[in-house]
Amino acid sequence: MPGAIYAEGLVKTFGDVRALDGVDIDVPEGTVLGLLGPNGAGKTTAVRVLTTLIQPDSGRAEVAGIDVLRQPNRVRASIGLSGQFAAVDEYLTGRENLQMVGQLYQLSGRDAKKRAGELLERFNLAEAADRTAKTYSGGMRRRLDLAAALVVRPPVMFMDEPTTGLDPRNRQALWDVIQDLVAGGTTLLLTTQYLEEADHLAHSIAVVDLGRIIARGTSDELKDATGGDVVEVVVQDRAHLSTAREVLARLGQGEVVVEDHTRRLTVPVEGGAKLLAEVIRELDAEGIEINDIGLRRPTLDDVFISLTGHSAEDAPLSRENAPGTDPEAAESHPEAGAANRPRTRADQQEEGK
Ligand SMILES: Nc1ncnc2c1ncn2[C@@H]1O[C@H](COP(=O)(O)OP(=O)(O)OP(=O)(O)O)[C@@H](O)[C@H]1O
Ligand SMILES: [Mg+2]
Repeated sequence: MPGAIYAEGLVKTFGDVRALDGVDIDVPEGTVLGLLGPNGAGKTTAVRVLTTLIQPDSGRAEVAGIDVLRQPNRVRASIGLSGQFAAVDEYLTGRENLQMVGQLYQLSGRDAKKRAGELLERFNLAEAADRTAKTYSGGMRRRLDLAAALVVRPPVMFMDEPTTGLDPRNRQALWDVIQDLVAGGTTLLLTTQYLEEADHLAHSIAVVDLGRIIARGTSDELKDATGGDVVEVVVQDRAHLSTAREVLARLGQGEVVVEDHTRRLTVPVEGGAKLLAEVIRELDAEGIEINDIGLRRPTLDDVFISLTGHSAEDAPLSRENAPGTDPEAAESHPEAGAANRPRTRADQQEEGK
């Protein structure tokens, strides 16, 4: 049986850009899927298709068992959405915004008021509740928008980068709210650019790049796919970078990434602390002075490099730098000519040879 959020072969193009290039999703009821990917990967496009805001070119989707293309109105009545950009009415107060949403969803005046009060408290907005939203900071608007999405406790929720722009305290508060919701049976799809966030909240993670899902699994499975842990070294002298790279290539499990300006090298490793000791010994034997060294769990960027051969930050470039594209045209129309874009930077280098 398909899950509470289900999609098969979703394709959506904007001109030459394949924002979704055959996306399959299946989220079991009462669980959280984290859709993780860099800027321009297609996360918002996927959310917009699943929440009926745009139609895909092909593919099909069901939300709460309802066909998204055939019965969009019924889908809308079963979902909550918090978009990437907060949608609040600037001229109403925080409280009025939330009460209005409650009434739109046919709560009684009394219930709408009660729910608004609870949510304002929950999102640390109680003190500002009776000021117009116009006077709110970016993070406050973001929280008000999230609260608005939670007024009616829908069975299926979509949150597009819910914690972007929140300070650590409010991020934690939102994480708590999300965990409560899910404990109450809500199914959630959330997008994020942070592996730690998906780590914390999601039962399963789908990594998106260039409109495709390039990996799925739990956070630990994804991290293990990079080789487990990452050794990070900062050398004292830039002249030692290339020897240090050779040492790490010999002891590590994958590509060594060298950041020239910070004199930092990273490599995925297996073998934890024991291996770290070995790296230190070998660097010392080569006479390389170390400023800093450590073992850490992989970040999204490490996962990305291991999956695609390019870093998450570079990903949007690979849409622009497609072969056969006039670089100037690509600059003025960043998405122009991206139809034949390479899947990875590594492919791109291969083709350039
Ligand atoms: N309405 C549109 N018209 C033209 N191109 C679009 C449109 N919407 C999205 N795109 C393009 O589709 C691709 C995917 O965009 P999308 O907004 O889904 O990415 P995203 O993963 O949400 O990125 P971000 O992390 O920056 O929010 C991008 O190349 C974007 O420029
Ligand atoms: Mg987006």
